[in-house]
Amino acid sequence: MTIETDRLRERVAAELLRTRDRTALLTEAVDDGDLIRQHSPLMSPLVWDLAHVGSQEELWLVRDVGGRDPLRPDIDELYDAFKHARRDRVALPLLTPAEARRYVAEVRDKALDVLDRARIDGGRRLVTDGFAFGMIIQHEQQHAETMLATHQLRVGAPVLTAPEPPAAPSFVGGEVLVPGGPFTMGTDTEPWALDNERPAHQVQVPAFHIDRAAVTNAEYAAFIDAGGYDDPRWWSAAGWEHRQTAGLVAPAHWQRDGDGWVATTFGRTAPVVREEPVVHVCFWEAEAYAKWAGKRLPTEAEWEKAARWDPATGRSRRFPWGDETPEPRHANLGQQHLRPAPAGAYPAGASPLGVHQLIGDVWEWTSSDFHGYPGFSAFPYREYSEVFFGPDYKVLRGGSFGTDHNAARGTFRNWDYPIRRQIFSGFRLARTA
Ligand SMILES: [Fe+2]
Repeated sequence: MTIETDRLRERVAAELLRTRDRTALLTEAVDDGDLIRQHSPLMSPLVWDLAHVGSQEELWLVRDVGGRDPLRPDIDELYDAFKHARRDRVALPLLTPAEARRYVAEVRDKALDVLDRARIDGGRRLVTDGFAFGMIIQHEQQHAETMLATHQLRVGAPVLTAPEPPAAPSFVGGEVLVPGGPFTMGTDTEPWALDNERPAHQVQVPAFHIDRAAVTNAEYAAFIDAGGYDDPRWWSAAGWEHRQTAGLVAPAHWQRDGDGWVATTFGRTAPVVREEPVVHVCFWEAEAYAKWAGKRLPTEAEWEKAARWDPATGRSRRFPWGDETPEPRHANLGQQHLRPAPAGAYPAGASPLGVHQLIGDVWEWTSSDFHGYPGFSAFPYREYSEVFFGPDYKVLRGGSFGTDHNAARGTFRNWDYPIRRQIFSGFRLARTA
């Protein structure tokens, strides 16, 4: 056993612990009634997410990597995300909150024992560089963000608190030119990158302009005030149809207040902050705004080039600021704050060309459908990504204030239906040069 392997074990153990602390915070902030309640048909009851996190950890770390006997084979089916739609999960004979907590703790004890004994320095691809552990850590972190979205849909007195995000030393606006030419998209080297981020491949991206910041609340309010929601010229046919059937008139959680707007955020209602990125808009709203503004959404390749391409070397880096793992000074991630930060609040996280806040704050809709990269192969199971490939899903990039830094790589890909806006979704604009 090498020192490097010991370090990896220590890092994995620390990440498992840190991740579980956030899961505990999100599930202990509310009472049992709120844990088992369906806060929205779009979301699972929080107690489902909790036991599902344990169930995936049991399947991959305890049974597969560890080769141990199952703890609760009887509940596999209940917590299989492909067996039951979110809206149906509330009616299942789920573990009670106390049972779910006991179950995830028992699984964790076994997983830590596996971590002590398993070979994680080679051998099977599943365990190389601790991949299976990294996958399960990221899975729990993704469910933490999902649970945070459930908290936003919960009705009742506020239960979550966090400091306000930093102010912007100076407001950031306008756009930058990203020169045309090839860049390397995706990765072969990020040890915990998921199958859909692989393999690294060259993409030719013609020159384009991209906004230095995401569209702000003030800018979005101007679109509403200009009658943007009532003018089919700005909307695609599918977008306009959805705008009408869903009765969209403003971002989710916004309400008129005199001439302005208030928004409800985790149970607190306050005027929308003009300089913050707009959040809780669907793809169709983002697309309509872009057309009204005379621009368009960036493609996924444009977004990643803006985030990773280093004009000095032509190399693709891990993050806009370089290869350094995100620190709180770089980006608004990991539920350190309960809202996106104003445009310009993270100068240390800007790209060499001066594009700000690509990572953190809000997920950014791109114009691209979710597809596998050339040479894609599903790993470790088809249901992770491949079954979602196709025109039904749009790609979002960059992570939100609720995304853990472990899953906020410049290569990380998220996807959702174009009508969804319960996620922490915003957008920035681009145009062809
Ligand atoms: Fe899951």
